Amino acid sequence: MTVRQAGTSSADDAPPELQERFDDTIARDQRIEPRDWMPDGYRKTLIRQVAQHAHSEIIGMQPEGEWITRAPSLRRKAILFAKVQDEAGHGLYLYSAAETLGADRADLTERLLEGRQKYSSIFNYPTLSFADVGVIGWFVDGAAICNQVPLCRSSYGPYARAMVRICKEESFHQRQGYELLMTMMRGTDAQREMVQDAVNRWWWPSLMMFGPPDDASPNSAQSMAWKIKRHSNDELRQRFVDMTVPQAEKLGVTLPDSELRWNEERGRHDFGTPDWAELKRVISGDGPCNAERMERRRAAHEEGAWVREAAAAHAAKQAARTKKGAAA
Ligand SMILES: [Fe+2]
Ligand SMILES: [Fe+2]
Repeated sequence: MTVRQAGTSSADDAPPELQERFDDTIARDQRIEPRDWMPDGYRKTLIRQVAQHAHSEIIGMQPEGEWITRAPSLRRKAILFAKVQDEAGHGLYLYSAAETLGADRADLTERLLEGRQKYSSIFNYPTLSFADVGVIGWFVDGAAICNQVPLCRSSYGPYARAMVRICKEESFHQRQGYELLMTMMRGTDAQREMVQDAVNRWWWPSLMMFGPPDDASPNSAQSMAWKIKRHSNDELRQRFVDMTVPQAEKLGVTLPDSELRWNEERGRHDFGTPDWAELKRVISGDGPCNAERMERRRAAHEEGAWVREAAAAHAAKQAARTKKGAAA
């Protein structure tokens, strides 16, 4: 990976006062900024996490993007368009945040295209009906909110600030999804069946979005110590379930989990275990749509080559003009 190391050094040869200042900043819940010294592991972990997050936003445009031309009304089309565009914007903020860590955006894109960096497993599932658009907004953006609201307090400044803006838009995404489902539930039996079918297909993959269980998530403890991450995978999954159950009741759908019930003692819901073997398969490239998503992304990258070339030529021309102006 092209990582500029200017102004930084590895923990081994760093003066102890730099490490101390870093530890102290984390302990006082203050932010690490791009110019501050940081341990190599912190920088690498963040680049990996932020890049993976950026890739997820961009790949995440595909499953719903497929429905833009088939949206049932002008209103639904406009809402879906705005939502998918928001996801592109999220990707851009996040690539910029990764660049503040010294990563190179072209390099990150290459890593995604070569399959050396991942994106969220959830986007490897197909969108079979328009109800999926609603359920993605409700579940997937809802899960994103559970994950990302605590990231607004992440220890790395640019990432935390990007999250504040992203979360505001994610809450619109969740609402548009829920409102769409409410409308369908007030419609015909066929529409209600479409909603229930979409709920059945997306529930478990959505629970998997929080990652493997805590005892199988080896990097989580270090990320929490660095305050990059604020809560464990299992805690976030639990929050999502607790938040979603009453919403499902209000909507009139059944979540497809026979073990789901309120636990009076814990004051939280008990729920079944996701199929971790399936998550592993999808992460390793063998989900229902992995090949299709990557193929589409590669084609988009190639089709966009002329735009990047034109932008670079324009920037070079501007720079030459500015230089000439300064010299005159
Ligand atoms: Fe997003
Ligand atoms: Fe979103």
